[in-house]
Amino acid sequence: MNINSIRNDFPILGTKVNGKPLIYLDSGATAQKPERVIESVNRLHREQNANIHRGVHRLSEQATELYEQARERVRGFIGAEQREEVIFTAGATASINTVAYAWSEKFLHEGDNIVISEMEHHSNIVPWQLMAERRGAEIRVLPFDDAGRLMVEQLDELLDDKTRMVAVTQASNTLGTRPDLQTIISKAHAAGAHVLVDGCQGVVHGGVDVKALDCDFYAFSGHKLYGPTGIGVLYGKREILEQMPPFLCGGDMVDRVSFAKTTYAPLPLKYEAGTANFIGAIGLGEAVEYLKALDLKAVEEYERELTRYAEEQLQKIDGLRIYGTTEDKCSIISFNVEGVHHYDLGMILDKLGIAVRTGQHCAEPVMVHYGITGMCRASIAMYNTREEMDALYRGVERAVRMLR
Ligand code: ALA
Repeated sequence: MNINSIRNDFPILGTKVNGKPLIYLDSGATAQKPERVIESVNRLHREQNANIHRGVHRLSEQATELYEQARERVRGFIGAEQREEVIFTAGATASINTVAYAWSEKFLHEGDNIVISEMEHHSNIVPWQLMAERRGAEIRVLPFDDAGRLMVEQLDELLDDKTRMVAVTQASNTLGTRPDLQTIISKAHAAGAHVLVDGCQGVVHGGVDVKALDCDFYAFSGHKLYGPTGIGVLYGKREILEQMPPFLCGGDMVDRVSFAKTTYAPLPLKYEAGTANFIGAIGLGEAVEYLKALDLKAVEEYERELTRYAEEQLQKIDGLRIYGTTEDKCSIISFNVEGVHHYDLGMILDKLGIAVRTGQHCAEPVMVHYGITGMCRASIAMYNTREEMDALYRGVERAVRMLR
């Protein structure tokens, strides 16, 4: 893996922030974009812009071809069997909401229950809560221990013949934890429940094979996978998607419309109402192609090594606590330093050109678990370097000296 060549692909990494070279450690919130993605979005706007699935003219046909090619690229990347199972959405939140609304209407009834993990992002909690309230169903929570390990052994106590859905992350955005999905999915299926996996962080760090995983739904956002914002993916098993009613309704998701009766378009368009973000989807397809050209195993190992190294360094700082210490976690380091507010720490790091995220990271239950108001989070991507980890250590050390 050639780190210099990877860095050169990301123009923003050569810029300065507050007069300092940018050290971007917030890729968990959104990743930077390679030239290939930026160029494709530019080119589409400049030379190829036309609405998809709607025109007989050349530009429209071309945009449609590129959009469907992007679907095929994503399908291959996540290991889905059929194109009908790959739906473009506005992002992971939209993907999960689509399932929560449409799936619940068909499969969730009074007295049923949904199991979610304690480490979920709000996007994989709130839609389920809302639907559970509406349908008279119960939410059950699978806890994690203080090391950030999801206590999968407690799943048996939560599952019963009324469990309809298990919603769980592939990799926690705060703790980095990668839950034992294989066990969770096989137990959930044995209980007759479906499983939705939030792949936002997981798809970036190690990828996914949805077929091998055997999850029923898989959701992720394009912007965290080095693609554009405003585009996401919902994978769903065809036989389940076929049984669900439509969610958003409008153009492109219909077959015949009359005031007497409307029929719906087949998958995947059934869930792509309105003008799709075709430029975002095509840009995401380019991001996927960019990633496919890399050795993703080597990338994952590189990120893992950087994370280990950064953690070793940071732990030298008196009073620093890292949240999420499981062995195979992804490249996310959330921490606090005794006597220092995470927000102040983030502000000082910013003055040094170091971008980290501070606060609750859209995972308030995780903060409640540890009895804290927030954390500082460094999320590491393939374009980060060992020197940047040293700079992070020096920056935190300096900030702590100033703030204490
Ligand atoms: N969910 C994104 C994060 O973890 C925004 O920062």
